[in-house]
Amino acid sequence: MIAVEMISEQLEELRRAALAAFASSLSMEELEEVRVQALGRKGTLAQISKDFGKLAPGERAAVGKLLNSVKQDLESEYETKKHRFAESELAARLAGEWIDVTLPSSGVRPGSLHPVTQLQNEIEDLFTSLGFAVLYGPEVETEEHNFDALNIPPAHPARDMQDTFWLSDGHLLRTHTSPVQVRGMRLLGPPLRLIAPGRAFRNEEVDASHEHTFYQLEGMMVDRDVSVANLIYFMKTLLSGIFHREVTVRLRPGYFPFVEPGFELDIRCVICDGAGCPVCKQSGWVELLPCGLVHPNVLRLSGIDPEQWGGFAFGLGLTRLAMMRYGIDDIRHLQGGDLRFLNQF
Ligand code: PHE
Repeated sequence: MIAVEMISEQLEELRRAALAAFASSLSMEELEEVRVQALGRKGTLAQISKDFGKLAPGERAAVGKLLNSVKQDLESEYETKKHRFAESELAARLAGEWIDVTLPSSGVRPGSLHPVTQLQNEIEDLFTSLGFAVLYGPEVETEEHNFDALNIPPAHPARDMQDTFWLSDGHLLRTHTSPVQVRGMRLLGPPLRLIAPGRAFRNEEVDASHEHTFYQLEGMMVDRDVSVANLIYFMKTLLSGIFHREVTVRLRPGYFPFVEPGFELDIRCVICDGAGCPVCKQSGWVELLPCGLVHPNVLRLSGIDPEQWGGFAFGLGLTRLAMMRYGIDDIRHLQGGDLRFLNQF
């Protein structure tokens, strides 16, 4: 027989010791340790409870009451303390992660479009309003699209290794945007109006006016009875759109295998109005873009009958035009990636 006094004493001792241990725990971990020791499945209370069954039946009621009250005391003390720890942990986190939303920010710095992109967007808008489609051909091209289909004979100097970046598999980096003429004719069929802005690549020595990578904007129109008058009309519309004023143009003969006749189009200098200045080298005229009527062979090679259809094409040097419009004196600035330069636009 176990004495009531003994078991009661053990319970009171447990209550006293565990409450003291809870009180002196400094962390959630310590608190948890005390809980396991006192209230866990193999803890002190569980040990004492084993002796409960050895009591005489008449003695069980009083001891059972005490047992429950010890258990409740310990559990509620544990919960209270645990809650306090959780609260102070949260408070510590809030204090640590505090930010002052009233501090001045480091400033909003909006990006801006590259000058060539700005010009390209303007010209795309202008031509789409005139019924032209915008096509973007691949930068890696076949010899057929870049040369053969444009009536560029195999011995033409443009095919020289000096000018063309050849890839090891026989493809090349397009040397102009004109291969998109070929793709456009084959894709759309006549009649058609398209422009094709994009990058072109040439194996050039880089200096202030030459880059291996530059932007062009190709244009092409194929229809019945297209003449040089149509070409001039569209070029004047384009140029007054870019320079925001009426411009005077003139055509000089120029040779490109894919146009016949071919021209160099000059504009009356927009800086001095033709009087002569450093920009036009005192000539009053600035050379701006090559163009011409589409060569019958070029039409034929893309499945268009030159007896039925005619066309014009032009190749605007977007990079050069951007340099003229913004007064940029060195082509290397445009692809240099220097933010001090780019932030000006
Ligand atoms: N593709 C030519 C070049 O890059 C330019 C051009 C385009 C000329 C269209 C005439 C017609 O030099």
